[in-house]
Amino acid sequence: MTKTYSIVFHLIIIFMLIVKIRTLLSDGSDVLADRSNRTLIHIPKDLPPSTTILNVSHNYISELWASDILSLSKLKILIMSHNRIQNLDISVFRFNQELEYLDLSHNKLETISCHSTANLKHLDLSFNAFVFLPICKEFGNMSQLEFLGLSASQLQKSRLLSISHLHISKVLLVLGDSYGEKEIPDSLQDLNTESLHIVFPLGKEFHFNLDVSISQAVSLELSNIQYVLEDGGACSFQNALRKLQKNPRLSNLTLNNIDTTWNSFMMILQLVWHTGVEYFSIKNVKLQGWFHPREFNYSDTSLKSLTIHQVVNNAYSLEQNSIYKIFANMNIQHFTVSGTPMVHMLCPLQTSPFLYLDFSNNLLTDMIFKDCGNLTKLETLILQMNQLQEFTKIVYMTKKMKSLQLLDISQNSLRIDENEGNCSWTESLSSLNLSSNILTESVFRCLPPRVKVLDLHSNRIRSIPRDVNNLEALQVLNVASNFLTNLPGCGAFSSLSALIIDYNSISSPSVDFFQSCQNIRSVKAGNNPFQCTCELREFVQRMGQVSREVVEDWPGSYQCDYPESFKGTALKDFHMSQLSCNTTLLIVTIVVIVLVLGSTTVMLCIYFDVLWYLRMMCHWTQTRQRARNTPLAELQRNLQFHAFISYSEHDSAWVKSELLPNLEKENIRICLHERNFVPGKSIIENIINCIEKSYKSIFILSPNFVQSEWCHYELYFAHHNLFHKGSDNLILILLEPIPQYSIPNSYHKLKALMARRTYLEWPKEKRKHGLFWASLRVSINIKLTEQAKEVCHTQIQNILTTSAF
Ligand SMILES: *[C@@H]1O[C@H](CO)[C@@H](O)[C@H](O)[C@H]1NC(C)=O
Repeated sequence: MTKTYSIVFHLIIIFMLIVKIRTLLSDGSDVLADRSNRTLIHIPKDLPPSTTILNVSHNYISELWASDILSLSKLKILIMSHNRIQNLDISVFRFNQELEYLDLSHNKLETISCHSTANLKHLDLSFNAFVFLPICKEFGNMSQLEFLGLSASQLQKSRLLSISHLHISKVLLVLGDSYGEKEIPDSLQDLNTESLHIVFPLGKEFHFNLDVSISQAVSLELSNIQYVLEDGGACSFQNALRKLQKNPRLSNLTLNNIDTTWNSFMMILQLVWHTGVEYFSIKNVKLQGWFHPREFNYSDTSLKSLTIHQVVNNAYSLEQNSIYKIFANMNIQHFTVSGTPMVHMLCPLQTSPFLYLDFSNNLLTDMIFKDCGNLTKLETLILQMNQLQEFTKIVYMTKKMKSLQLLDISQNSLRIDENEGNCSWTESLSSLNLSSNILTESVFRCLPPRVKVLDLHSNRIRSIPRDVNNLEALQVLNVASNFLTNLPGCGAFSSLSALIIDYNSISSPSVDFFQSCQNIRSVKAGNNPFQCTCELREFVQRMGQVSREVVEDWPGSYQCDYPESFKGTALKDFHMSQLSCNTTLLIVTIVVIVLVLGSTTVMLCIYFDVLWYLRMMCHWTQTRQRARNTPLAELQRNLQFHAFISYSEHDSAWVKSELLPNLEKENIRICLHERNFVPGKSIIENIINCIEKSYKSIFILSPNFVQSEWCHYELYFAHHNLFHKGSDNLILILLEPIPQYSIPNSYHKLKALMARRTYLEWPKEKRKHGLFWASLRVSINIKLTEQAKEVCHTQIQNILTTSAF
């Protein structure tokens, strides 16, 4: 456990060092080659010659030659910790004149050969297998040296003396596991260093004579202290602390990795209390045994800050209250207890000097500082990661903390009792961290009136009520990771300058936000399930307009979640046309289009007389329908005429003087549309009427006819298919020759008919006329039924009577 911890710890340290060193030495042109953790056994050969930082830590490298790093003339930082190097000849670095930082800690170094390397600022040889301190005479020349890490299992005065004139900021001395002597030489304290860190051998009872009374160090850290001697026994560690009393220089003391008893732990506190130490830190403590409560002497102390971090309590039974009592009444300003099983803390018996209390990551409950009126100077209280549950109890706790400015109660299980009307925050509070609890929107009913910074992220807030009052001072509001469905208005938060509202359930944020939040300087609203529909358009436009500094995570974190087709699209790239989003505009557009189309159609109809054609079609269709439903016999019964004659006006002379007399004298009844006119019908209807009542249709073809009349029939014939199967009914008389070219191109049927059919040609010679009439009569050859004759007769009568009018 301790081992893993220390590995992790060292990794972190290494990382931090790299970061720190990089920023320290970097002139912006560093080339980092990180080859750590690659199971390497040599320094890789493929490194760019421009490499300035090389990290080959955590590998299996056992030897280092000048040739390995010869080409890296720019190398400034070399990290080779956690390898297997046994021997080091410092002269291998003679070609790396820029080298400033060399970390060879955690290897198996036993010997080093010296060479002058005056440029080194950081040299770490700690955690190695050296028997004697690896200090050569040449180290005395390293005037730049800021950090020196050493390890040895024997300390010799003489070696330390050779560097005692250097001003080294920090010296780390690791005493090897086989360090056997009791004495830590005085010369260690002669080291001219600000900060001294001594690591004692692990797993050994502390038995060293350490005299830090004359140490030059301002800051001292001691690691690995294990002792179980009960008080009263002559303990060398407590003796060492006693000697601190005589050292006026030392102000920072850190004890790391201590394994002892509760009694000894309290004794350490008591001893340090009376030294000149101002900042005291105890980390990674394992405590056992029991605690005999006794008076703690708070008087005569320089201590300002005490930090107790990571305590494992192995004691079975413990009078905890007496420990809390000692803690609570400490006369210091800064007190931190974190990572311990502490379940409670008492109220100080009198007005406490505490300014800063950090009790994060313990097991504290709502009972903490209940009804406590003696923390009136307290400015910062951190109760992060405890077992707090009832919000109103914590609110009440602050009531008498008149100076409290910052309260962090994040990462608890705080919830609000809806029925609790009591809201008694201290007025002084300006920063409140309520994040990672289970609070709902009711929290807005009870917030400190002067709060400026409010962190409510990771709670269960579904909405921010519009009628929140008393939050005029609020400047920063973090409501990320809740269940909010819209952006808040700033009506209630007139000073709001930063809003963090990412990771919520906002799908269509309203743009009111931009109007009401005029003072806003920063918005973070990304990672919400934005619904990319028309409603979002205005929001996207506004976000695009606001400057980059204001919308922090634009455009990367803003993506469409819905509809499916847009999922993952950046809001920045989401566009919808004005038309598809504006209903009125859409309707107007459709109406206009319909109107234009409609009027065009009407005009076209008028222009091409389409209505007339439609009526005709209708008529024809009906007639055909009739004809189809009527049996042939009946159809023939309806026939009243032998033939219908169609001709051009220009040819009427011939028709009237030649054709009609010749046919009618043979008792052939002819239907002429102008003669057999049915009043109330149009000419074309009369023509059709005639055609339908006649057995045959005779066409007098001439250029005139083709030009003027053909079109009247074209449609009808085409429609009735008369050109094909019904063409027996057609008789064509060619009165005058018609040149092919004079037939308009569109009259395909006529052309076809002319080309294919035999027509009767009117002969010019008089002697041929007899034959012509004969063949014509044969073509017409039909006997009309008696009934039809009668009907026709009455019809003619009718027409004659009508025409008389
Ligand atoms: C509130 O506490 C959380 C940790 O619990 C921390 O991450 C956050 O930064 C704190 N908020 C503020 C405003 O300091």
